[in-house]
Amino acid sequence: MRIGMLGTGDVGRALGHGFIALGHEVRLGARDAANEKAVAWARENGAKASAGTFADAASFGEVVVLATLGVANESALRAAGQEKLRGKIVIDTTNPLDASGGMPPRLAVAGSDSAGERVQRLLSEAHVVKAFNTVGHAHMFRPSFPGGPPDMFICGNRAEAKQKVGALLKDFGWGVIDIGGIEGSRYLEAMCLVWVLCAFSTTPPTWNHAFQLLKK
Ligand SMILES: NC(=O)c1ccc[n+]([C@@H]2O[C@H](COP(=O)([O-])OP(=O)(O)OC[C@H]3O[C@@H](n4cnc5c(N)ncnc54)[C@H](OP(=O)(O)O)[C@@H]3O)[C@@H](O)[C@H]2O)c1
Repeated sequence: MRIGMLGTGDVGRALGHGFIALGHEVRLGARDAANEKAVAWARENGAKASAGTFADAASFGEVVVLATLGVANESALRAAGQEKLRGKIVIDTTNPLDASGGMPPRLAVAGSDSAGERVQRLLSEAHVVKAFNTVGHAHMFRPSFPGGPPDMFICGNRAEAKQKVGALLKDFGWGVIDIGGIEGSRYLEAMCLVWVLCAFSTTPPTWNHAFQLLKK
């Protein structure tokens, strides 16, 4: 499958690497086609990897992943071109973090709205699925923990889109918990802060943890 990756940060590059390892083709998109991180990533990841602008990645992807600075989602999606995402699954990995007051950050959007809902409103004809936002990039692909595979919580309005993203998550090595419609992003984005606070519960902070839902 062709994956359009909007974002050249740690998440875009880690997920891009995972998709390539699973045999998919990935185009990493940035504001500038000559983005050094994206060009280097494409060079290092072989023939199935390429780099371009946000618009190039949006056109290329059958599935598109949003991995941009959460408070810049709208600007990145406008540059990508909303029309290029019509009818496509968009996996939203973002958190609208504001670290201007120091660490840990706060959510710039919270309460009765969320980044996930804003992305779905902006891309009204795309199928947005929130996923991958509650773990660090180092553990996104093939997470390995003593307690077994962790769970990724997802949400979105379209059942078929969530099934497809769920299958991709299983390929990446995750259990999958579907918590409902895209408004669940309000809680998944807050859950990201729980993940960050868990990191700060040790001195120095450690980032090697992930969530798992235990059931009986
Ligand atoms: N880092 C993690 O471990 C982690 C884990 C879970 C979720 N997340 C979430 O995933 C998202 C990506 O995180 P990240 O750490 O990989 O990278 P990041 O530094 O949060 O974002 C980098 C991307 O945002 C784009 N960007 C920055 N400012 C922009 C603007 N004004 N307009 C348009 N695009 C802009 C950059 O574009 P250029 O490529 O052009 O520079 C780049 O592609 C974030 O929302 C983050 O909260 C991160």
